[in-house]
Amino acid sequence: MRILGIESSCDETAAAVVEDGRRILSSVVASQDDIHLRYGGVVPELASRQHVVSILAVVEEALSRAKLSMNEVEGIAVTRGPGLIGSLLVGLSTAKAISYAHRIPFVGVHHIEGHLEAALLSGNPSYPLIGLVASGGHTNLYRLPETGKYELLGQSRDDAAGEAFDKVAKICGLGFPGGPAIEKAAQGGDPTSIPFPRANLHPTLDFSFSGVKTAVALWIRKHGLPQGNRLADVAASFQEAAIDPLITKLLDAALRHEVRDVAVCGGVARNARFRQRLDHESSHRGLRLWLAPLELCTDNAAMIAAAGHARLARGEHDSLFLNAQATIPLSL
Ligand code: KG4
Ligand code: ZN
Repeated sequence: MRILGIESSCDETAAAVVEDGRRILSSVVASQDDIHLRYGGVVPELASRQHVVSILAVVEEALSRAKLSMNEVEGIAVTRGPGLIGSLLVGLSTAKAISYAHRIPFVGVHHIEGHLEAALLSGNPSYPLIGLVASGGHTNLYRLPETGKYELLGQSRDDAAGEAFDKVAKICGLGFPGGPAIEKAAQGGDPTSIPFPRANLHPTLDFSFSGVKTAVALWIRKHGLPQGNRLADVAASFQEAAIDPLITKLLDAALRHEVRDVAVCGGVARNARFRQRLDHESSHRGLRLWLAPLELCTDNAAMIAAAGHARLARGEHDSLFLNAQATIPLSL
């Protein structure tokens, strides 16, 4: 079954065609980074306006790269939330219009379900498994008792992990988005040089990243804006302090719930140091790691098409009354 995926929950306008929930025939992502760069963060109104400008061209490009016409698409999967409401509405309205005009069934997909699917679509993981989503909007830990079921084990009580990267990059005078900028600045730095705090929150599996962000701000107030090797040390030390709790809680959840398979996804999972440590720690503990491929870590529509596949293949669809929601829990 060939599914057109549409994703517009934040600042990426994306469309993709995925066959049978696995084979990515095309995946197009139009980034808005240059629009939001000067503000140091995503400006919701500008994001939704740019989605309106880009969405049809992005959908057409996805079809053209897949060498398909719209009539050869058998289902549409679109992000219905969580996300920026104006941005979500552009993607959802586009999906509804195509669905109505071409008589193609559509389903609304939870954005986080899409992220998890990005880590799982490349193989056959064993359930139950533990899934960690570390993105700019969420840091959530789930137990998946079976495919398509999600039990929330822990989440960030304040900033998401990616948000902390973005904010620390801004404080350090680096670019936007902050994750890649911090990773680059951290190259050659000593991750043990500055002992930034790690929130433990034991015995919960929750996270907190506002403390480490404040600690970096206080360090800069005291020592001034770092440059050169000192900047590398600050960036590497922050990066380590942000990654540590993600790995600790993931391993703790796997141990507590006696699972062998763990999945990691979301924008922060692009980070090479994080990937390298995940690889090392999971093989050390005999865990099977499902790590989203680099191009599917940040927002994209292939993960949304893959996540919508099961419902569409069962013949299910949503009605044109489906609404976008800025916040929706992903639950059992
Ligand atoms: O999943 P995503 O594209 O959007 C949300 O759903 O939020 O994640 C974007 C987040 C941003 O906060 C960005 O700074 C972070 O992922 N990110 C990274 C890296 N690349 C992107 N964080 C750390 N290291 C990276 N290389
Ligand atoms: Zn996302």
